[in-house]
Amino acid sequence: MSASAGPTTPPAFSPTGTFVPGEPWSSGVRRGPDGALTVAGVDVRELAAAQGTPAYVLDEADLRERARSYRRAFEAAFAEVGAGVDVYYAGKAFLSVAVARWVRAEGLRVDTATGGELAVALRADVPGEHIGLHGNNKSDAEIVRALEAGVGRIIVDSLAEVERVAAASRARGGVPAPVMIRVTTGVHAGGHEYISTAHEDQKFGLSLATAPDAQAEDSPAMTALLAVLAHPELELLGIHSHIGSQILDPSGFEVAARKVLELRAALAERTGFLVPEVDLGGGYGIAYLPGEVALDPDRIAKDVAASVAASSADLGTPLPRFSIEPGRAIVGPAGLTLYTVGTVKPVRVGGAAGDGEAESTTVRTYVSIDGGMSDNIRPALYGANYHAELANRLSDAAPVLARVVGKHCESGDIVVHDVLLPGDVRAGDLLAVAATGAYGRSMASNYNHVPRPPVVAVTDGGTRVLIRRETEDDLLALDLG
Ligand code: LLP
Repeated sequence: MSASAGPTTPPAFSPTGTFVPGEPWSSGVRRGPDGALTVAGVDVRELAAAQGTPAYVLDEADLRERARSYRRAFEAAFAEVGAGVDVYYAGKAFLSVAVARWVRAEGLRVDTATGGELAVALRADVPGEHIGLHGNNKSDAEIVRALEAGVGRIIVDSLAEVERVAAASRARGGVPAPVMIRVTTGVHAGGHEYISTAHEDQKFGLSLATAPDAQAEDSPAMTALLAVLAHPELELLGIHSHIGSQILDPSGFEVAARKVLELRAALAERTGFLVPEVDLGGGYGIAYLPGEVALDPDRIAKDVAASVAASSADLGTPLPRFSIEPGRAIVGPAGLTLYTVGTVKPVRVGGAAGDGEAESTTVRTYVSIDGGMSDNIRPALYGANYHAELANRLSDAAPVLARVVGKHCESGDIVVHDVLLPGDVRAGDLLAVAATGAYGRSMASNYNHVPRPPVVAVTDGGTRVLIRRETEDDLLALDLG
């Protein structure tokens, strides 16, 4: 074999070479006439020159269209079966004041998971009653702040929290606090598979399962619902279930919803109280690589609406109002990250010659960029796959198997495991990594004292910095010497 031969086994990378508009890119991404990528009409070379790199680039029209599509799809499908539905944008995926305003303008509400996310939603003037507060370990200060803001729902995660929210509500002497109980149904979904297990070994929610050695006892979920009903300071608004992330198969939602509706019916039979709302959580999957197909909101909405209608009819209970909490599906595909290429290093992979075996001739081109695991931890944390393209020019050089790596002091500092890039990729080129809008900036760190990149919105040929680039001075300002 010659040294220029390709990999000996077909690697699991995504093909590249000719840019194809569409997912995993946001709808505003094109290749301009001279070969550079443009986002909503903005040339990435100009954007990089003005804002520097790395930079998160957010396609506003794309994000807003996704927010609208989810709301419309769920409203239409649930109206068809006679149920109302609210869409809460899960701010953990990415939240800024502007994004909170955009999703609000598209008719969504905002789901927050901490006091910090709550503060952003409030700064954006999202009305308190359109905000939900999650968290498996809320502080008293977070609970009080949520009550002061008049949030529409506190999603309670433990029996102890029922008491804490009741105490906070009592101390304020005001209207009963609207709460949902987060339950774990035993359904875990993600990717194409889901498994249903009787018991849970995780920190979230209250299990629907009863202990096998105590048949007479109620499940933790039922116990919590009864505890809420026993408190005049609390209003039992709903039951909440979130089953996982990056789900591409609707059946997990349907199985979980059925279990929640059964619990609701059991509570009604026992107490006469019919819980008014059910939240089915987030987790709607997106395309990260060319050829991957995102969950279609119309299809999932229709499937889930039909399934909950059938379950409710079986159980003989009227349908509740529903809500969902998509995060990734709204903001993920709307974002890309722009990097500048630095060191490019061909590395021979596999063993050297010896023991009668031929020398490995597979070469992997390590393309180092000016960011890394500090701005996108997902490949290192979850083995997540992303797609990258040369963004500042077209090249007809033969493609090479590349790995896009960061500038941090770790060999696991990988942003794109395997991608074909033009063989002449070189220092100074721009690389764009697709679908980084969700859980990129929101999970970014300052590892190695790297300042976090800005978030730049592009809209109709214009740019607007939503979150400015951090500076070394910002970081040093925290260091009291
Ligand atoms: N609702 C609840 C209660 C959640 O826990 C989550 C995500 C969501 C909604 C939004 O899920 P989405 O639609 O964005 O998948 N950091 C990970 C994912 C962890 C998400 C945790 N909860 C990632 O980067 O994939």
